[in-house]
Amino acid sequence: MKEKLKVAVLASGRGSNFKALAEACAGEGYPGDIAILIVDNPDAGALQVASEMGIDSVVFDCGPKKGSMTLESSERMVEICNEKGVGLVCLAGFMRIVKGRLMDDYVGRMINIHPALLPNFKGLNAQKQALDYGVKYSGCTVHFVDKGIDTGPIILQKIVSVEQGDTEETLSARILVEEHKTYPEAVRLMAEGRVRIDGRRVVIKGHD
Ligand code: GAR
Repeated sequence: MKEKLKVAVLASGRGSNFKALAEACAGEGYPGDIAILIVDNPDAGALQVASEMGIDSVVFDCGPKKGSMTLESSERMVEICNEKGVGLVCLAGFMRIVKGRLMDDYVGRMINIHPALLPNFKGLNAQKQALDYGVKYSGCTVHFVDKGIDTGPIILQKIVSVEQGDTEETLSARILVEEHKTYPEAVRLMAEGRVRIDGRRVVIKGHD
C-alpha cells in the first residue's frame, strides 16, 4: 500500500476544519494522516479536538505581533515538520501570515482554506465583507499559500448562495458546512498526487 501523506495542521481557534481533516484522515482508505497540530494560542479549541482524537499537538509562541510570526517560530515549525516527515502543511484558521523558513521550505506544499470565493474578500472577516458588498454568491476556497495574503493558486472552490436576511453568523455557518467537505477533498487530491500548479492555474488530474 502507498504510504500516506503526513499532514501538519496549523490553527488558531475553534478547530472545526482541523476536526474535519482529522476525521477524514481517520477514515478507511483516506490517503492522508495528521502528524501534528500546531497552534499559536494555548486557548485554541483545536487543542481539545486533538487531545480527544489522540493527535499530537504543540503550542507555539509566534510572537506578540498580531497576524505575524517570528522568524524563529517559523524555523522551529519546520524542524518539527521535518521530524514528523510532514509533506503537506494545512492552514486551518491560522490567523498569522506565514513567512520565513516555513514559507520557503513548504512552497507548493502548503495550502489554506478561506471563507470566500477568492480573489474576492481576502483577509479577515471575509463573510462580513461579502455581505456588506451585497454579493448573491459567496463560498469557500482552498488555495496554495504564497507570500501574499490569500493570493496563491486556487485548488478548489465551492459556491454558497447568500440569502435574504442572512447575517454574518448564518452565512458563515452555511459556508463552514462546505469548508468541512472541501478541505478534506483538497487534501485527498494532494495526497493522491493529482494536483499540479501551472502558472496561476491548478490542474487536477481526473477531476471535473
Ligand atoms: C474558517 O472559517 C476558515 O475558513 C477561516 O477561519 C475559520 C476557522 O474556523 N479562515 C480565515 O478566515 C483565513 N483567512 P475553524 O477554527 O473552526 O476551522
